[in-house]
Amino acid sequence: MTDYALLTAQLASLIEGEPDLIANLANAAALLNSEVEGLNWVGFYLVKGDQLVLGPFQGLPACIRLPYGKGVCGSSWRRGESVRVDDVHTFPGHIACDSASLSELVIPLFDSGVVWGVLDLDSPRLARFSEHDQAGLETFCRVLEDGLKRP
Ligand code: SME
Repeated sequence: MTDYALLTAQLASLIEGEPDLIANLANAAALLNSEVEGLNWVGFYLVKGDQLVLGPFQGLPACIRLPYGKGVCGSSWRRGESVRVDDVHTFPGHIACDSASLSELVIPLFDSGVVWGVLDLDSPRLARFSEHDQAGLETFCRVLEDGLKRP
């Protein structure tokens, strides 16, 4: 089971004092890929206009643009809340970037209540993500948001 308190402390020290968004997101994706087991894809999509555009990630090449409100990522953006899917084949409008992905967790990233991106984690295992993962990764995202505001 992932130690999210430790992971979040590692993130805080990785991004401390560094103002570059892409560098910090790239290191956050690498940290998650190295420390969270059972993933085939992890990374960020960033809001640009009415789409989410691919940002730093670890995994196979992925869909570049995702529409607002569509798929797991677009739904998380529209709802402004995390979306955890045990079996992506049952999620209406799921956008398949890697056919190996079976379960998915998406967490929105906020600045002053506005979503500016999402963290997306995919797993080749059904129901890979638990409430524990969701809560731990939501805290991880809160620390990431804060760190990006205070380099
Ligand atoms: N499955 C996502 C698309 C992004 S990839 O998983 C990397 C979705 O339905 O939004």
